[in-house]
Amino acid sequence: MGTLRHLVTLSDFSSEEIHELLETARNLKLEARAGVEHTMLRGKSLAMVFQKPSLRTRVSFEVGMAKLGGRALYLGPDDIKLGSRETTEDIAVVLSRYVDGIMARVFAHDDILELANHATVPVINGLCERYHPCQALADVLTIWEKRRRLEGLTLAFLGDGNNVAHSLIHACSKLGMTFRIACPEGYEPNEEVVATARSIGGEVAVVHDPAEAVDGADIVYTDVWTSMGQEEQAEEKQKAFTGFTVDRAVLDRAAKEVVLLHCLPAHYGEEITYEASRDPRSGIFDQAENRLHAQNAVLVRLMT
Ligand code: CP
Ligand code: NVA
Repeated sequence: MGTLRHLVTLSDFSSEEIHELLETARNLKLEARAGVEHTMLRGKSLAMVFQKPSLRTRVSFEVGMAKLGGRALYLGPDDIKLGSRETTEDIAVVLSRYVDGIMARVFAHDDILELANHATVPVINGLCERYHPCQALADVLTIWEKRRRLEGLTLAFLGDGNNVAHSLIHACSKLGMTFRIACPEGYEPNEEVVATARSIGGEVAVVHDPAEAVDGADIVYTDVWTSMGQEEQAEEKQKAFTGFTVDRAVLDRAAKEVVLLHCLPAHYGEEITYEASRDPRSGIFDQAENRLHAQNAVLVRLMT
């Protein structure tokens, strides 16, 4: 593999590197099932910096470090107060003196970049306003498990052109998958992210009709309409996204073998119905579990 030090965005990884991570993740998952104990990260620590709440990211990284023989420290929104108590640069430098890796969930993407610029240990983006690379890795691992291939598949994303959509655009364009998003006008994904994906041969379609995106799709994906930090836009978004709810009828329009994914947490009755989430075509809890295995592959890759 190359000289990658951080996981800031999936666009920094080559297609080969993503495939290698997926292979490591699959092996680690099989070994976890077989009860194999690992010591690859013995004596190593991961600082987990959170500016926002989390269930999956926090627990999967903390448990993941323990399963690899290391440990993780939770630094919540009131602990180090990233951005207000001291500079992000100083936080990166000081944390690097204590720990072997930093995972951070922040508001501004620039904060991830600043941590990565000043840390002398690997920095992993655990979600920012722009990207959610760990999620997209777990997503493609889940898709591979369900469909045994990635190349040539079409993923239809119904919802906001947000952090989750952006990282999926990166993943799809690197792995030969078509990405179609249906969103209301004004909620399209970032133009630069789309243009970059297309410039490396990625098939990305941006439409405003959910049926157009979903017809024949192999994967139907959705995420909350109101992301963390956008609470004051909730009412406006509820109105704008009317008609974009994923229900069983939406799944019926997709390919017969369709897999429904949602990064969770879900707001049932808004972007997804409870019935669709529990449909046999739904893979949302396998997807949540795969955060652990995909991230363990990242931890092994970056911290050993
Ligand atoms: N999908 C995801 O990142 O979940 P959390 O916000 O609970 O970490
Ligand atoms: N788009 C959502 C994802 C949560 C995992 C958010 O940013 O809140």
